[in-house]
Amino acid sequence: MKRILFLALTAAVLCSCGGKKDEIPGLKDFIKNDFKIGVAVMPSSLVGEEGEMIKKHFNSMTAENVMKPANVIRPDGSYDFTEADKIIAFAQENGIKMRGHTLVWHGSTPRGYMNDAEGKPLTKEQVMAKHENYIKAVFDHYPKDLIYAWDVVNEALADEPGESIYRTRSPWYQAFGGPEFIEWAFKTAKKYAPEGCELIYNDYNLVDPAKLERACTMLKDMLAKGVPIDGVGMQAHWDNSVSQEQIQNAIDRFSALGLDVQITELDLTCFDNYHGPGAAERQKIRQSVQYTTELADAQAEQYSKIFTTLHKNADKISSVTFWCLTDRNSWLNNFTIRGRLDYPLLFDAQNRPKKAFFAVKDVYTKK
Ligand code: GLA
Repeated sequence: MKRILFLALTAAVLCSCGGKKDEIPGLKDFIKNDFKIGVAVMPSSLVGEEGEMIKKHFNSMTAENVMKPANVIRPDGSYDFTEADKIIAFAQENGIKMRGHTLVWHGSTPRGYMNDAEGKPLTKEQVMAKHENYIKAVFDHYPKDLIYAWDVVNEALADEPGESIYRTRSPWYQAFGGPEFIEWAFKTAKKYAPEGCELIYNDYNLVDPAKLERACTMLKDMLAKGVPIDGVGMQAHWDNSVSQEQIQNAIDRFSALGLDVQITELDLTCFDNYHGPGAAERQKIRQSVQYTTELADAQAEQYSKIFTTLHKNADKISSVTFWCLTDRNSWLNNFTIRGRLDYPLLFDAQNRPKKAFFAVKDVYTKK
């Protein structure tokens, strides 16, 4: 009996956080021309109710994983675009534009990619030739008018202060003996990218003052050298501690450099956001928690602040992308603690709009 009462109460608390599915407007309808509004997807979420939600709410998509190098490059070195093409076809059928993610990233470099058949490290020239071949194949493969931006380089900066502003342990940094791979990647992408496709540097924690400084140092240096970089992707894996001032400051700094800003991987963890070394050990809460009314309220308020700031800066931002569609398929259910449920998005695990959804809507519709 006690258990039934508990379940009923829990259900009531949870239901009070989610709204009805059918009566809501599409995000893209009220966000209108501020910026493109996107979502990261897997091929499996293109069907059924999730497919309908994507069509209703979004006019931009990113492949969560299947367009990354390690997903496309087979162990024998050939390329397999089968999974990526499922997303491309869905985008084309439904008039949705796409962001390409990503061309050079330490986190998606196939095992053994920097070595020859005997396991000996390739020279920098060999790595350049091998990956130029890949970048060319990518741009040759995808439809020219579909992908409006590519994350050319992902996460090249260091998390902590140190001798270098760069992530020196990246296989790319090591193969090139320095950060020149960044410049090389942008120049190579420029060679093959279709006219008008924006070339983006993408990274996390860019609202952190020290990392923002590192990013601006790198970007200024590259722009001075004429490196063809069009914009910055602020991943925006945030928590409730990120302030509107921090977001504003980062947007101002990047656009002062003449760069477009894209919010590329927005989600709001209910736990502490930290991505750098020792991320899991730093987590104070290690178990799943209930998504209480308090959590839902705090998250809605934070989403409201974020979208108020983004809306105000719509002239400097060309797209905002959520990293996953619903709380059920968020990567944060496994990061940084495997199996710890998180509730970072606008839709709950049953695909219902959360209080956070209505808070975003209010930014646009409340006078
Ligand atoms: C980073 C990458 C993304 C994705 C997320 C976690 O932010 O840029 O591609 O892997 O981590 O899902």
